Amino acid sequence: MRLECIGCGKIFPLDEVRYTCDCGNLLSVEREITVDRKVFDGRRTSRNPIDQSGVWRFREGVLDAGDVVTHPEGSTRLYERGGIFFKHEGENPTGSFKDRGMTVAMTQAKRLGARAVACASTGNTSASLAAYAAQAGLRAIVFIPSGKVAAGKLAQTLAYGATALSVRGDFDDAMRLVREACDTLGIYLVNSINPFRIEGQKTIVWELLQDLEWNAPDWIVVPAGNLGNTSAFGKALREARAAGWIERMPRLAAIQAAGANPFYRAYTESFAQRHKVQAETIASAIRIGDPVSYEKAVAAIRATNGIVEQVTDAELMAAKGEIDRMGIGCEPASATTLAGVKKLRAAGVMRDGERIVCVLTGHILKDPDAILKTVSTIEIEPTIEAVGKALG
Ligand code: F0G
Repeated sequence: MRLECIGCGKIFPLDEVRYTCDCGNLLSVEREITVDRKVFDGRRTSRNPIDQSGVWRFREGVLDAGDVVTHPEGSTRLYERGGIFFKHEGENPTGSFKDRGMTVAMTQAKRLGARAVACASTGNTSASLAAYAAQAGLRAIVFIPSGKVAAGKLAQTLAYGATALSVRGDFDDAMRLVREACDTLGIYLVNSINPFRIEGQKTIVWELLQDLEWNAPDWIVVPAGNLGNTSAFGKALREARAAGWIERMPRLAAIQAAGANPFYRAYTESFAQRHKVQAETIASAIRIGDPVSYEKAVAAIRATNGIVEQVTDAELMAAKGEIDRMGIGCEPASATTLAGVKKLRAAGVMRDGERIVCVLTGHILKDPDAILKTVSTIEIEPTIEAVGKALG
């Protein structure tokens, strides 16, 4: 296993603390994966916590570590509703897919002897970091955009014991600041710029392929913000094909909020140039204007014959209402997936009969305020007449 620059190919030892190459490009964990997928299937019935983790079940393709920091995480459900599959990553221990990357990054932090870990976050990464750092006995420091994080996520982050720095600025400002702080103060950075995060998040795709008995779907649909997940999904599919776990490549569809769409803008120009925007959307998880994993995500879209789409806040909130009333529920950012599917079906890009998996990235309770803007209780006097009147 090695750290390899995705630009110039320079190789660094796995245990060197660095997130980018000297040439400025991102680093990727690379290895030869030769394990048979039957090994993973065999572990599904095991009682061993490391096998029960939907991340460490795939450990030959994740990280070779003896002592892992695991809850365990993953092993989320795959629902089929209305002919579409939903992989619900909100069912992870802290309510979002971030736990899959965090178990790996925190395991690496321990191996490196880190004392403190940090991230910039729109709320889910910070909650996940706080929980795993508490388990690992490390100091947790999170940089969050002031006043821009959903109540559930903020409360959760503080409850697990993290120190939260509320940065006067947006997520992109917080991201710049945490990188500088980690470099100067010797804190271990666990944003998805950290290549070990990506290794864990790959298992969302591997696990959904396993759920489908390794019959690859036509499409995998993912919300796109800082682009860590889009990058991880591309790498997961590339490695699954190379290892012979699947016979054909699904197409990735990365969906952005129209108010936070730098990746979509670049896609419409065949990735001729990188874009930055001043981000604004109700889906606060993906209110990001300058995504750090841009280059890896471009490679993921190209390698999977993928596409990038954008949806408005009205479209994503309507889709959220549908997912909620299926009895599944998710946070606003996750609903970009179903909103994107509707748009892409209407445009004839996705066709009838194609198998589609939407990845729901966060739990319904993460952002109660977004819900209470659209629905409310009926307040009544404590009388049976009032009940009758209210129920019509
Ligand atoms: N969905 C949810 C619920 C998220 O929290 C995020 C990112 C995304 C989608 C986008 O994933 O960044 O890999 O493209 N949340 C980060 C955070 C930024 O700080 O919690 P991405």
